[in-house]
Amino acid sequence: MSTAAPEPKANMGKSVPRYDAAAKVTGKAQYAADVPLNNPAFAYLVTSSIAKGRIDRFDLSAARKVRGIIDIVTHENAEKLKEAKLFSNGGYASTTIQPLKTADIAQDGQIIAVVVAETFEAAREAAHAVKVSYTATDPAATFDSPGTTSARAKGQLAQFKEDPKVGDFARAFDTAEVKITASYETPTQHHNPMELFATSCVWNGDSLTIYEPSQYVYGLKNGVAEQLGIDADKVRVVNAYVGGAFGSKGSMTPRTAIIASIARRLGRPVKLVAGRDQGFTIATYRAETRHQIQIGADHDGKLVALRHEGEEISSRPDAYAVGGTKTTTRLYACPNVESLVSIVRADRNTPGFMRSPPEVPYMFALESAMDELAVKLNLDPIELRRRNDTMTEPIGGKPYTSRSLMACFEEGAKAFGWAERKPEPKSMSEGDWLIGHGCAATCYPTQMAPAAARVRLQRDGRTRVEIAGHEIGNGAYTVIAQAASEKLGVPFEKVSVLIGDSDLPPAPVAGGSNSTASTCSAVMMVCDQIRQRLFKASMPDESLVDKAKETVGLGQTPVTQATKSDRPLNLEQAFDALGASVVEEYGEWKPEGAPLDSFRAMHQGHVRMVGGGEMKDKIAYAFGAEFVEVRINRWTHEIRVPRLVGAFAAGRIMNPRTAHSQLMGGLIWGMSSALLEATELDERYARYVNDNLADYLVPVNADVLNVEVVLLSEEDNHINPAGVKGLGELANVGTNAAICNAIFHATGQRIRKLPVRLEDLKI
Ligand code: MOS
Repeated sequence: MSTAAPEPKANMGKSVPRYDAAAKVTGKAQYAADVPLNNPAFAYLVTSSIAKGRIDRFDLSAARKVRGIIDIVTHENAEKLKEAKLFSNGGYASTTIQPLKTADIAQDGQIIAVVVAETFEAAREAAHAVKVSYTATDPAATFDSPGTTSARAKGQLAQFKEDPKVGDFARAFDTAEVKITASYETPTQHHNPMELFATSCVWNGDSLTIYEPSQYVYGLKNGVAEQLGIDADKVRVVNAYVGGAFGSKGSMTPRTAIIASIARRLGRPVKLVAGRDQGFTIATYRAETRHQIQIGADHDGKLVALRHEGEEISSRPDAYAVGGTKTTTRLYACPNVESLVSIVRADRNTPGFMRSPPEVPYMFALESAMDELAVKLNLDPIELRRRNDTMTEPIGGKPYTSRSLMACFEEGAKAFGWAERKPEPKSMSEGDWLIGHGCAATCYPTQMAPAAARVRLQRDGRTRVEIAGHEIGNGAYTVIAQAASEKLGVPFEKVSVLIGDSDLPPAPVAGGSNSTASTCSAVMMVCDQIRQRLFKASMPDESLVDKAKETVGLGQTPVTQATKSDRPLNLEQAFDALGASVVEEYGEWKPEGAPLDSFRAMHQGHVRMVGGGEMKDKIAYAFGAEFVEVRINRWTHEIRVPRLVGAFAAGRIMNPRTAHSQLMGGLIWGMSSALLEATELDERYARYVNDNLADYLVPVNADVLNVEVVLLSEEDNHINPAGVKGLGELANVGTNAAICNAIFHATGQRIRKLPVRLEDLKI
């Protein structure tokens, strides 16, 4: 009999099982719509069946006859809420199309009435009995629809400051030895989180509690307060778990303040669970994009000129854009780069963040074009990327804090067996199946934002961490508990974590893959404050205190130093010396380079994100390389993906188990974005057609065969105290290009428009 290996200490870097695993698999985890309410009324939304025009009149007679009906709220009797500013322009809102204000309709599926009843069923029945007469005008649905307008993104949107540019693209491209010019398209997509867009609003006197799945409880709290015209201190947003969000729950949608206002008027809690179809229009989506890429290279494959032009759809009133040229112009060494992002306004709901918002569409274009260039040069696509690898981004000349792109390609290639691939297209097959191998790079900016935390440590080691972070399936509870466990030297099991509540110390939006870096940095800093107090108490000798300070590390000091501290804290002795049984500390952390107003903004629900290529003298990204095998049936054109392999480097991995899940999920989603997912638009009506999970295609188990995640170790002490780059949005980038590159390898046919449809294949 062998002896069991010693239990690893449950702390940073260990594959600790999820903190919330048992709660989730036993059904104990309470999601927003699960929270029991005292005598709730139920709301059901009525949404517009036209995309543009106005409401002439409502006929509510049939709806009013439904048993259990309480009220029907339309623009004619709704409270007029205050305006809301777009999240991406410094506000809180997902859209400035604010319903129930006038008779005007600006998008299909706009909220036009809210029916409130004693039961969900009665509210739904009455909602379907509401009759509406409209005067409809022809909407402009998408690119090339008459009536759209197009303008450069720069200057319209606070978050898109610049079209990156360096050197003289036109001249360099003109004289380049080898040239590629190609256009690419990506489709509309919707997040379709399992958990629907729910909201429950409960008033207690003049205080409001909102139970709603949110990626940003501080943003929602402040945004709703602003719309209702009340003090933000009177609003609390609670959600211990979010059942999927992917960006769709990061900003405030119009539904929340409307339901809060109705609940206030009724003097009763009101609960809304919007239908899945309604989720397509009352929240955001990934807009369709178009790209033109031009690459000039020399015969050796060194890039001499690169131009990326992107166009994105947005709504009439809002300039939302993802602007992925920030990334694509900086990924490879190239002396002459130019870019341009335009926003095309259509009669649509306002789009928004959806997992890796900029990189999914823009890297599809770049990484497809790189493969086209490799084919033209008759060069291995990995070798092409090696020849253009750089430790300095070409636009501002800033060094990458660390960059393991080529190491990822090497490790990924090994795991995949890239060496077995025959380079010529159409050279591999088995029976009726054409086989293709493709690869692509992925990257995602390392981002961080100010965060605060409160930590309470007891003499017996029990620890409570409070921070208004968000469990969106990412493993937030787990990594926060790990950070505290590591820093305080207490077992993981003794740490309890409170998140998802705006009464807790503020944390940023759980978006842009910043959560682990931001929340863990704040928690580690506050744990350091506790250690300092205990060290001081137990080591009255000044010289020893100084030594402790040195080894423990504060603020920006890399945590590795603290971990290796040769002075572990003896809790009981330290507490005895302190003469207390509990120590509690609160602290506010901000990343290097965060603006002066960071902490004030943080409390007001505004994110001051730092990172990516926008840092002063450096650039920080996580990287990866993805490999796929496709098998295409030569008769039916069925496309199967028997193998997906991704190798990733993202700084310190807080927990390989949760990281693996994120990356695996990303690879699957990336495959989905290439082969399955698209929201179909009926251009006559600017209406989403497949607004349900039966028609909106997502992968099922049978679509997913082998998925392999390789995690490279990478140490980066230039990003944040936790050394964490963030990887939630790393793996679903580039997969779409890798698949199209593999399809080219299998068939000799280049697909430049997603998703790939069987009928597009001309074999
Ligand atoms: Mo994400 S799209 O940053 O939730």
